[in-house]
Amino acid sequence: MKGAFNDRLSESSKRSGSRVVLALDFSGPHAGRLRAAEKVLTATKKEIAAVKMNHHLLLPFGLEGVRGLVRVCRRAGLPLIADLKVNDIESTNMNIADSLLAYGFDCFIANPFVGKEEGLGPVIERVHEKGGGVVLLVYMSHKGADEGYGLVTDSGKPLYRIFAERARDWGADGVVVSSKSPERIAEARKIVGKGCMIFSPGVGAQGGEPETGAGADYLIVGRSITEARDPAGAVRNLNGRR
Ligand code: XMP
Repeated sequence: MKGAFNDRLSESSKRSGSRVVLALDFSGPHAGRLRAAEKVLTATKKEIAAVKMNHHLLLPFGLEGVRGLVRVCRRAGLPLIADLKVNDIESTNMNIADSLLAYGFDCFIANPFVGKEEGLGPVIERVHEKGGGVVLLVYMSHKGADEGYGLVTDSGKPLYRIFAERARDWGADGVVVSSKSPERIAEARKIVGKGCMIFSPGVGAQGGEPETGAGADYLIVGRSITEARDPAGAVRNLNGRR
């Protein structure tokens, strides 16, 4: 059912009074990453709205290897997003979705570039039937984002506007728009409305400020929390609390 993921996320955000999605990203020797992740997650779990996991953990350890972290999230009622930027044919996307949901993830990020038919359309439907969510990339947070997401199509529209329209028309649960582009956030909001959440990365290590991401529903933040001496304090600062 569409909406189930956003309901869980909104409950979790209200409970913690937080709009921070913790990007559980760790670099350096693989051997220490799971322990470091558990430490940061335990320290911040009451201060965050959700958790996002990326290749930093999923590549070296796989879904089996992160079971312990998934358990911590589930016990804390924290929705868990897989940031795999899913971008393949339907049967492969379906396979990814089924595995992620079976292992306790609630949602994943996908690239709308791949299209709806035999791409993401049926996958979004299936994920909704299972109570999960799908978030689509609209405008990324790195410097080169405009080279791709800003490309102007024959229709005169830039790709990011088309991607926001796809998110609306395909019934996506959310979109990712850079916190460094408040104008893009505002444009995306006009297109997707209020029922589709805007997740905004780029704050901290990539140079963005929580203020410029103010138009988004949630801030995705990694290194400025995971590498902080006091990760819970770093989250409180992002939430405007001391
Ligand atoms: P930092 O350390 O820069 O981490 O706070 C940000 C996290 O978010 C990911 N990221 C993105 N994910 N669209 C995404 O789906 C984006 O535009 C985007 N920008 C950053 C990044 O990989 C890291 O996990």
